Amino acid sequence: MAVTVTPLSGALGARIEGLNLRHLPHGDDLAALRRAFLDYQMVVFPGQKISAGDQIAFCELFGAADSDYKAPPQENDDYRKGVMLVSNVRKNGVPIGNLPDGDMQFHSDGAHRDSPYLATTLYAIRVPSEGGDTLFANLYAAYDALDDATKARIEGLRVHNAYILDATSRDEEAREGGTLREAEHPLVRRHSETGRKALYVNRLMSRYIVGLDEAERARLLDELIDQVERPEFIYAHKWTEGDFLMWDNRCVNHARTDFPAEETRLLRRYTISEAVSAAA
Ligand code: OGA
Ligand code: MN
Repeated sequence: MAVTVTPLSGALGARIEGLNLRHLPHGDDLAALRRAFLDYQMVVFPGQKISAGDQIAFCELFGAADSDYKAPPQENDDYRKGVMLVSNVRKNGVPIGNLPDGDMQFHSDGAHRDSPYLATTLYAIRVPSEGGDTLFANLYAAYDALDDATKARIEGLRVHNAYILDATSRDEEAREGGTLREAEHPLVRRHSETGRKALYVNRLMSRYIVGLDEAERARLLDELIDQVERPEFIYAHKWTEGDFLMWDNRCVNHARTDFPAEETRLLRRYTISEAVSAAA
């Protein structure tokens, strides 16, 4: 069956059909997939039935598969290699994974690290009957839509990001016992493969713009955070079990809507980092 690529919205995203991800894509299929990932920034493969091993192998087509959060307590092959589950399922009152409950503000995975994740993959195992949508925002479009004066003003500036691991809102700053991670990055980020400029700022993690005085940097930061959340740049994904998604953290922010606490939400997550060459 031929691979088909269907755009999902005017903002970003495409649905890819005709691939069974239990088998690694290769040749023309893989080339079409790489092209779609760069062109649409986020791709959805519906109707998949994949193991953790399949997911890791897929991730390794693009870089190094990793996951730096806690491993779930159950020990079986499907959960090897430090998988991160995104789930509100609890065992003895303790979440089996991360980011268990409710909504989550816009962010880009790994923006609190010196080496942010290139991409993130999520595989939907159980989803609630309503809510728990993942929203994706196009950071190229957000940059392109800035006026020339603002583009000139922010060129070369850096943004300071801070994140308490597993927080879903920036107001959790003071959370007891949390692990804080911080990193600085260019506010205008040039994509390593497409060469396009993305407005690399987000509500959950971005704290201040380096080098500007306090009043000016607060005003500018607020303005840019609002810019990357404009509705015309956003696609809302309603999950179906069996959906496998991959998005490009270099040019996409994402967020989550609230969902009923009494319903189960379980997704399996691996991030992809740029592979470190053996010679390095
Ligand atoms: C993530 C994340 C959003 C969601 O796994 O990095 O932000 O919809 N998940 O659960
Ligand atoms: Mn995330």
